[in-house]
Amino acid sequence: MTLSETIRPQGTARPLDHVPGDLGLPIFGNTFAFLKDPFGFHQQRREQYGPIYKFGVFGGRTVALYGADALEYVLMDREKNFSSRKGWRLLERLFPDGLMLRDFDDHRGHRRIMQAAFKPKPMRDYMLHLNQGIARGIGAWAPSDRFEFYPAIKDLTLELGASVFLGLTMGPEAAKVNQAFVDEIAASVAVLRRPWPGSQMRRGVKARAFLLTYFRDLIPARRAGGEDDMFSQFCQARSEDGAYFNDDEIVDHLNFLLMAAHDTTTSVLTTMIWAMAQYPDWQDAVRGEVLAVGSEQLSYDDLDKLELTERVLKEALRFRPPVPFLPRFAERAFEFGGYEIPAQTSVSVSPGLVHMDPELWNQPTLFDPDRFSDNRAEDRRHRFAWTPFGGGAHKCIGMHFAIMQVRAFVHQFLQHYSVALPDDYQNRWQAIPIPKPRDGLPVILSRR
Ligand code: HEM
Repeated sequence: MTLSETIRPQGTARPLDHVPGDLGLPIFGNTFAFLKDPFGFHQQRREQYGPIYKFGVFGGRTVALYGADALEYVLMDREKNFSSRKGWRLLERLFPDGLMLRDFDDHRGHRRIMQAAFKPKPMRDYMLHLNQGIARGIGAWAPSDRFEFYPAIKDLTLELGASVFLGLTMGPEAAKVNQAFVDEIAASVAVLRRPWPGSQMRRGVKARAFLLTYFRDLIPARRAGGEDDMFSQFCQARSEDGAYFNDDEIVDHLNFLLMAAHDTTTSVLTTMIWAMAQYPDWQDAVRGEVLAVGSEQLSYDDLDKLELTERVLKEALRFRPPVPFLPRFAERAFEFGGYEIPAQTSVSVSPGLVHMDPELWNQPTLFDPDRFSDNRAEDRRHRFAWTPFGGGAHKCIGMHFAIMQVRAFVHQFLQHYSVALPDDYQNRWQAIPIPKPRDGLPVILSRR
């Protein structure tokens, strides 16, 4: 079996003998146990070895640093020890120059420019596109006793991406771009990392080439201006000191951003719909507040009116965070929790595990949106207790966009539909790389 570069350890192997844990089998390490049940794997090790332990997956040696303090230490990275690029090396072939795959000053410079595309004025424009796209998309959904929500919302999110990020209207062109995009995303998480003929990675590499050429050809028109999609924003974006993206940077950033936005938003929307189908009282309560807004589509100025929606969203992101593990690579030796960790070590911190910490959350395995109410505010027990969007320099730049999209969707969806779970529903989810229901989440979808 070839896991190729994912199993190639990086850097010089320095001893980790003093760190508790086990590295598993030669070559394969603990990969199979980890893939079978990632959370169970880590919980068991934490109980056995304590909050800091080594393990071996994908051929590399990784040190897990468990807990909210560890998340804060690694993500805030005050000593500039940790490379995100080398941590996320799995994504390097398809998204080599995306924002998350840049480090330190280079990353900061790019992020400053990109920030211009997330200011209130462009966000207002995106909201209009989102609302129109959602209306079009859910208007075509057919009520059914077995409506597979996951593929439906995945398609819709992709269509919204084509329109809001790229400024494409629906049609054959968008369908082709979408397909390339589907291929690229599938390849980004493929086990086989070499672009061998017939492999997912080969399709992904081809898709990347197609997309970059396609984006590049559109740059002159987007630069000419007048459009309000994110692509146009990237073409015109300037940081405060006047820096801007060249053509190569525009296409790479766009390509990565589409990937970063897509499966994550799809995942959390699916968790929310599962939750509202599972807990009809929450569905009724959220619908009540949606109807109280009194408009078919949610306006940018009304975004803050959906307080219960917000609680369900926050709980969905706690309960099943779309990015449960965050990898980093220590460029320099560091000390944490009483251990000296040598340079050139892969490190893993986990919002997903911290979100289930009984010392931070009351009955963490319970889906309970009221834990985010003002009087309970369990998320305020630690600055890094709730970190579905990460933290520090690489904190999700699309966080507000994602929240806006979720609110806009829920607002329209609950006005027109109700959902319930079929009697034979089995709650089976794939935990990594991004959580998704193994059965597509069949729901009973009824029109209201
Ligand atoms: C619910 C939806 C989303 C979740 C849970 C999520 C989560 C995350 C997390 C955890 C990170 C940090 C990764 C790390 O530190 O290693 C991140 C980074 C990023 N996200 Fe999101 N994301 C979501 C939606 C979006 C959307 C909609 C966009 C774009 C519009 C986006 C664009 C990005 C980008 C560009 C980065 C890299 C930021 C940097 O390195 O400076 N994400 N996201």
